[in-house]
Amino acid sequence: MSITPIGGPLDDSRSGKPIQKVTITSLRERKLRREPITCLTAYDYPTARLVDEAGIEMILVGDSLAQAILGYENTLSVTMDEMLHHTKAVRRGVKRALLLADMPYGSYHLDPQTALANATRFVKEGGAEVVKIEGGEKRADLIRRIIDAEIPVCGHIGLTPQSVNVMGGYKVQGKTLSDVEQLMRDAVALDRAGACCLVLEGIPREVAAMITAEVNTPTIGIGAGPECDGQVLVFHDLLNLTFTQPAKFVRRYGNAAAVISEAVQAFKTDVKSLQYPSDDESYHLPKDTRASLEMVLARKQSMRG
Ligand code: KIV
Repeated sequence: MSITPIGGPLDDSRSGKPIQKVTITSLRERKLRREPITCLTAYDYPTARLVDEAGIEMILVGDSLAQAILGYENTLSVTMDEMLHHTKAVRRGVKRALLLADMPYGSYHLDPQTALANATRFVKEGGAEVVKIEGGEKRADLIRRIIDAEIPVCGHIGLTPQSVNVMGGYKVQGKTLSDVEQLMRDAVALDRAGACCLVLEGIPREVAAMITAEVNTPTIGIGAGPECDGQVLVFHDLLNLTFTQPAKFVRRYGNAAAVISEAVQAFKTDVKSLQYPSDDESYHLPKDTRASLEMVLARKQSMRG
């Protein structure tokens, strides 16, 4: 018997049905077939399960964890330990999708050894299949080294939130001719370095379309227009759970904030008005214990009287 099943679908232990696992190879095939790729962020077990079971191809434990879940002001504060903690939870909920983890700010900026050690932790401890790194041309050598260590890497160019202080805020990138040329050089450098996919964030649609046509790597857009090979959104943006004004590119597909608030209010009202829990929602003594108890209570009562 072999412990490495070659080819063929995997079995889903939950449903028993075969599942076709998404891999970096199947992402490339989707690009070639012009079949749009879907990606959402997830940060915990229940959302990971829902997103995976809905058939989304890529699940990213984004460093947007910082704002979406941990209430930080930006992504700069989130740590390796926090990212790993959430990656492990998401791993437990994902069976089919390709699982990506964002390398947080500071985890790959110091030296290549530290970067490699941190990337390895995402695979060994977190169960991630791909790590994501922000930055273009200047990250190409590092990306090669990480891939040499058998870890697929997703690039991320354009509006890179970890560069917020250098960019002077969150601004659409690639608006001047020289910026467009730099973005093209960045994309081509990461494509040649072997990135398995490339997030294009906050760039003009025309530029994203040119990059997508130029590189073999599947491009995944966020605020980069419809010509990308796929689209990613932050789960909490999709469902109105961010407590902020959404960016132009965000489409709200549900209002989880309203659903949660209504449920919490209804619970509060029911408890205050003694409507919850009802008798049906309570446990009861078995008949014989109840009868014995009633006898004991009656005896006590008669002794007192
Ligand atoms: O951290 C994140 O959620 C991301 C996506 C927006 C691509 O990097």
